[in-house]
Amino acid sequence: MRIPRHLAIIMDGNGRWAEQRQLPRIAGHHRGVETVQTVVKECRAIGISCLTLYAFSSENWGRPEEEVNALMGLLAEYLRSELKTMMDRGIRLKVIGETSRLPVEARKVLDETVARTRDNHDMVLTLALSYGARNELVRAARYLAGEALAGRMAPGDINDRTVAAALDTADLPDPDLLIRTSGEMRISNFLLWQLAYTELYFSEVLWPDFDERELRRALKEYSRRQRRFGLTGEQVRTDDCCPGEGHH
Ligand code: FPP
Repeated sequence: MRIPRHLAIIMDGNGRWAEQRQLPRIAGHHRGVETVQTVVKECRAIGISCLTLYAFSSENWGRPEEEVNALMGLLAEYLRSELKTMMDRGIRLKVIGETSRLPVEARKVLDETVARTRDNHDMVLTLALSYGARNELVRAARYLAGEALAGRMAPGDINDRTVAAALDTADLPDPDLLIRTSGEMRISNFLLWQLAYTELYFSEVLWPDFDERELRRALKEYSRRQRRFGLTGEQVRTDDCCPGEGHH
């Protein structure tokens, strides 16, 4: 079975899962963390090299303070409890997003975990935190404009490669597969540049109910799809086609 090198997931439906059970929304996030633990282990076991999870969006800052604080607390708790798993299984942690907005406590444990797992090479687990793709693109544009203004590059040197290298995901391949749970069919400001040729898969299952079986179902569907990157089916079958080489 062909497996994605990079799998990205929009974990949606924690709130609805809790509401259906007349529980506070945070109870859904708690269960959501358990799903994260399951999915990380399963992806590692399957041999997926990069897993990127949308854990907190730029827009999520607008949620009630209580929910934001609880999510930040859960994040710190998750990182502390998962360090052993990350070390045992060779998982390196990476963070993308405007992390300067995160509370000091969360930032501290994130920095520590990133540093401790730095030399792990079997899988990269990227958490998108305080992440919005437009914000990421704005930051990249500002950086490139600064470089041009300082004379370190000409505006004409800005191309697909230099833009990609100025994004938070610079060292990651583009996602091969994006999964969104809970039946919503939107990208919601996630990895807009990087998803250009990504296969999209929408699952009806709410994130707390997502499990190994649902993951395998998505991967099976992915392995059946033919990726053409703007070429014809025949070309893809004969060439060893890959993205980012001028095919649109
Ligand atoms: C979407 O559910 C989920 C989030 C906004 C946060 C995702 C967070 C977790 C799974 C837990 C924390 C993550 C880590 C990595 C420790 P929603 O609240 O938008 O659900 P709804 O659409 O049903 O309201």
